[in-house]
Amino acid sequence: MPQTLADMRRDYTRAGLCEADAPLEPFSLFHLWFAEAMKTEQLPVEPNAMSLATVDASGRPHCRVLLLKGLDERGFTFFSNYDSAKGQQLKARPFAAMTFFWPTLERQVRIEGQVERVTSQESDAYFQVRPLGSRLGAWASPQSQVIRDRVELEDLLALTEKRFLDQAPHCPGHWGGYRLLPERVEFWQGRASRLHDRLNYRLEKGGWIRERLAP
Ligand SMILES: Cc1cc2nc3c(=O)[nH]c(=O)nc-3n(C[C@H](O)[C@H](O)[C@H](O)COP(=O)(O)O)c2cc1C
Repeated sequence: MPQTLADMRRDYTRAGLCEADAPLEPFSLFHLWFAEAMKTEQLPVEPNAMSLATVDASGRPHCRVLLLKGLDERGFTFFSNYDSAKGQQLKARPFAAMTFFWPTLERQVRIEGQVERVTSQESDAYFQVRPLGSRLGAWASPQSQVIRDRVELEDLLALTEKRFLDQAPHCPGHWGGYRLLPERVEFWQGRASRLHDRLNYRLEKGGWIRERLAP
């Protein structure tokens, strides 16, 4: 066991990433890596967990973990409270960066781009497949606001349960999805002696440029 942070290091030797194995656009490689992460990462790791960075109106960064809930040719979808701190930041500055880390595979994927809200139909559709407790929680919790104590939250939940005693909770207006439209997707494969492989996809004039970055 290393004794200090300075002593903690791991050499990455599991795999490499070369241009010959990389498609000309990033989506199919993300799908492949994600499928491998689903197979390989050990429970309770959630392979769809990622760090999402946003900036506020004054340019200060904020970062937190979220779950990726959708991916198609348009982009990467996640759900949250539109009034939360991240919601305010995305309103002021509709750009974000997300980072996935799959430690068993010694891989990282970084995605950056503009963020838009998904349609209310898409938010409703996802809201309806969430467990009842999560749906009630979305109504009850004023995400990111200061609350007095745990009891205040439980009281808010009790009020929400009462409100929805005879009806299924519908998707609140303050809750829904965001889609990150990727402009840059970087695949990082750890290699020995810190000489990692980094393949970066960059959107230029509607087409993807693939390039290798120094580790
Ligand atoms: C594993 C994990 C998954 C999470 N998934 C979500 C999520 O999908 N949506 C969400 O709003 N918050 C999620 N959270 C909570 C966020 O990290 C964060 O606390 C919350 O969104 C408030 O962030 P904000 O104050 O910056 O808006 C998750 C946290 C963890 C640790």
